[in-house]
Amino acid sequence: MSRTFAIIKPDAVERKLTGIIIDRMEREGLQVVALKRLHMTKKQAEGFYAEHKARPFFASLTGYMASGPCYVAALEGENAQPRWRDIMGATNPEQAAPGTIRKELAVDLEKNSVHGSDSETSAAREIAYFFSELEIV
Ligand code: RTP
Ligand code: MG
Repeated sequence: MSRTFAIIKPDAVERKLTGIIIDRMEREGLQVVALKRLHMTKKQAEGFYAEHKARPFFASLTGYMASGPCYVAALEGENAQPRWRDIMGATNPEQAAPGTIRKELAVDLEKNSVHGSDSETSAAREIAYFFSELEIV
């Protein structure tokens, strides 16, 4: 068993897709061991995506992530980190495989509906960014 970190991004929350994304997590055998709704500040989004701060899309990305409420979650299951990335699909929904969340639900390259940690190390950092150990059950 391992954990990963997920976000249901503002575009998906706004379009009332939260329920079907959580349903997909559960049907895939990923247990939602922590979950909360929050509206990130620009500073929180900048801290979360700090690895991208030199990228040309950083200002737009962090503005978008602070544009509305999202749900942050910790998921637990076998190979949770790579599995959730596979279920999400490629960053650009146009390149995402059929059946992936991004292919089915995303709006565009930025408003791509979900986040998933890109490594076990990122997963640990990202879970700790939003949750205390007591909130993960
Ligand atoms: P995420 O971190 O959100 O799970 O996405 P990812 O690993 O698939 O992609 P990453 O390279 O980490 O990019 C983070 C998010 O930034 C937005 N993005 N915009 N305009 C652009 O060229 C561009 N590239 C990436 C997306 O919202 C992407 O998910
Ligand atoms: Mg990423």
